[in-house]
Amino acid sequence: MKDARPSKTAEVTALQRASEQKRPPPERILDDPFANCFLTKTTQAALAAWEHRGKLGNLLGWFSVGLTTFVLTRHRYMDDRLLEALACKEKAPHRIVVLGAGYDMRAHRHAKAIDGRPFLEVDHPATGKRKTGILDKLEREGRLTAPRAEQLLIDFQTESLEERLKQAGLQGKERVFFIWEGVSMYLTREAVKNTLRTLSKVSAPGSQIVFDCWFLLDQPDLRSASHRFLANMLLFLGEPVLFGIHPEDAGGFLDQCNLKMMETVLPRELKSRYVRDDRRVYPACYTVWARTGE
Ligand SMILES: C[S@@+](CC[C@H](N)C(=O)[O-])C[C@H]1O[C@@H](n2cnc3c(N)ncnc32)[C@H](O)[C@@H]1O
Repeated sequence: MKDARPSKTAEVTALQRASEQKRPPPERILDDPFANCFLTKTTQAALAAWEHRGKLGNLLGWFSVGLTTFVLTRHRYMDDRLLEALACKEKAPHRIVVLGAGYDMRAHRHAKAIDGRPFLEVDHPATGKRKTGILDKLEREGRLTAPRAEQLLIDFQTESLEERLKQAGLQGKERVFFIWEGVSMYLTREAVKNTLRTLSKVSAPGSQIVFDCWFLLDQPDLRSASHRFLANMLLFLGEPVLFGIHPEDAGGFLDQCNLKMMETVLPRELKSRYVRDDRRVYPACYTVWARTGE
């Protein structure tokens, strides 16, 4: 990611959530009433042009062959895992950490379930500073009712996440719920491994992580080829897809990073859990839920 400007892909995922918010509540995969606040004027204008019933979502879905629906279902899946963990009386997390937070508003959307637990958002300085400016404005307008997350600004590729998290108070004694959404694919393999290995060093056993991965559809047909091509197109947003791992290989990879696989959820399953209409889910990504040792 280029340092100077806030992440474009973070704005795209906010746009996808904002377009979902245009649908009637029963049709929505998730609710994010704040997503619209993070869109630039141009993006807001594009969204406003499709006022009704998430038509922008349909259009993006058509172009991206289900990428929008994947982004929405992964967010919902991670919401569900977080809420489930928070509801677990004995083993609930003491703290929540979102890595590569972008315009994630879980600290506000789930404030009641979070119940005052420390909430840390880690992101690249360019994106994090833009978010702070927007949250300041929302606060002045009285639109934030929950405590704001603490922010930690870092470049995962060049700085030590372990050191910075330890400085931020993660000393390995608390159970942490980590969310790492829409980031692994933009990092080098080394940076992905370092990030995952860091988690068990800075949190207590029984901590959890949810994240998502891209993988290479390794079929020779045209559809698979078009998905491989689409991933490369993100180069033009300045955030090329670098890291991928096949879901069959994910368990072994996590073992190397001192994590235990709980489940991988493939696009077909995400669709059956969360999509109530004919929207497709992008087939070359999946979600992962894992935990640190006993
Ligand atoms: C696709 S966005 C995902 C944002 C958010 N998690 C979501 O799902 O809406 C990728 C996020 O990763 C962050 N990111 C990308 N490369 C990074 C790096 N090298 N260091 C820190 N953050 C990075 C970006 O700033 C951005 O917020």
